[in-house]
Amino acid sequence: MMPLIFLAAGARAQSGPPQHSPEGKTAAQVFKNIQVLKNIPADQLIPTMEFIAASLGVRCTFCHVEGAFQKDDKRPKRTARKMMQMMFAIDKENFGGRLVVTCDTCHNGSAHPASTPVIAAVSMPEQPLGTMHEGAKAMPPMPDHVVDQYMTAIGGQAAAAKISSRVEAGTLTAFGGRKFQVTLYQKGADKTASYVSLPRGEMITTFNGKQGWTLGMGRPASAMNPDMEYADRVYAGLGLPQAPSTVFAHLRPALPKTIGGAETYVLLGISPGEVPVKLYFDKDSGLLVRTVTYLRTALGLYPEERDFSDYRATDGVKIPYHITIARPGGERFTIDINKVEQNVPISDSKFEKPAPAGGEPSSP
Ligand code: HEC
Ligand code: HEC
Repeated sequence: MMPLIFLAAGARAQSGPPQHSPEGKTAAQVFKNIQVLKNIPADQLIPTMEFIAASLGVRCTFCHVEGAFQKDDKRPKRTARKMMQMMFAIDKENFGGRLVVTCDTCHNGSAHPASTPVIAAVSMPEQPLGTMHEGAKAMPPMPDHVVDQYMTAIGGQAAAAKISSRVEAGTLTAFGGRKFQVTLYQKGADKTASYVSLPRGEMITTFNGKQGWTLGMGRPASAMNPDMEYADRVYAGLGLPQAPSTVFAHLRPALPKTIGGAETYVLLGISPGEVPVKLYFDKDSGLLVRTVTYLRTALGLYPEERDFSDYRATDGVKIPYHITIARPGGERFTIDINKVEQNVPISDSKFEKPAPAGGEPSSP
């Protein structure tokens, strides 16, 4: 599986605010006009904004003056501050301060929440009488069973253990159907990187097993937010491929879900101090078809969904050749792999902090 490619955030940042690499700083220390979210980590500010925009179904400019994000000229921005305070008060008074009611609970993709129930255009189908028993049928299987089925489906533990590195070349489709060359690197169970060739230079994400960086859109490399680093760690582990039971401290079963007509088993991958990752395995093929990782924001969790398909046996192990990456309110990015080399030497420098565009020594 793939290193994270933060195209959505990168694309926004191009027309948006400067990107900072604010290790350890608060939002108030890094940004100019923060009144409510003063004490949140600075690197959570932009994910928090993505969360707001997705919850309301609006663009940044609904609240912000282009090129001067600190300005309070637009009324919705001022309203949004009051809404944050209202939301924090609701959660404090009713849910012990946990972010249970969020912007999305009321707004659900609209700037104007409905206060009257909607009358459906078509009558609701009557609940069939058997539904009560549906729950029993849909009981989740034990994680061990799902993991075993998955490892068998991809070719078996022994075949998987023979893979130590991978270079994948492919096409990335993004920004309204435009196509770009992408190369993905994986080394061991914890190093991962992606290099996308854009007309104005490369867009790069690297993760060396401990730290991650992103570079692109003519900006210097910036450190990844800790939740992005965790997601990359997970994708590096799953990508090798390793058994999900090795990648996470615990696996918990969740209720099965149907994706595109196919039934899936759902597991939660849990690691101490991290937001659980959702893993969806096709019930019939056993293959991993979807993952959902989350960025913590000041207002709630902001998900990223990846779908994996077109699995092909490659050196004895099945790996996905078609990947889609989607976030709420964002575009869907797809990657089609057309060449895979495994167990080839890859320099460690590929996974380190990328050099600024122009003279990077680690360019593929
Ligand atoms: C619904 C309104 C709303 C939307 C939509 C929104 N923001 Fe914000 N934004 C705010 C508010 C309110 C603040 C100030 C928060 C505070 O005072 O604690 C803010 C602050 C910011 C700041 C800090 C500016 C400074 O220097 O003080 C940046 C940067 C920012 N937003 C970027 C974005 C981006 C990028 C998007 C789109 C992904 C976005 N915002 C979408 C309401 C919004
Ligand atoms: C408890 C429900 C609830 C929550 C939670 C909530 N809102 Fe609202 N919001 C509303 C209602 C109701 C309105 C008023 C709609 C109207 O007047 O048409 C509104 C209006 C707004 C508006 C004004 C829209 C406009 O066109 O001017 C903004 C901006 C907004 N909310 C942002 C947020 C943000 C950001 C959050 C999360 C921090 C949030 N809201 C959380 C219920 C909620």
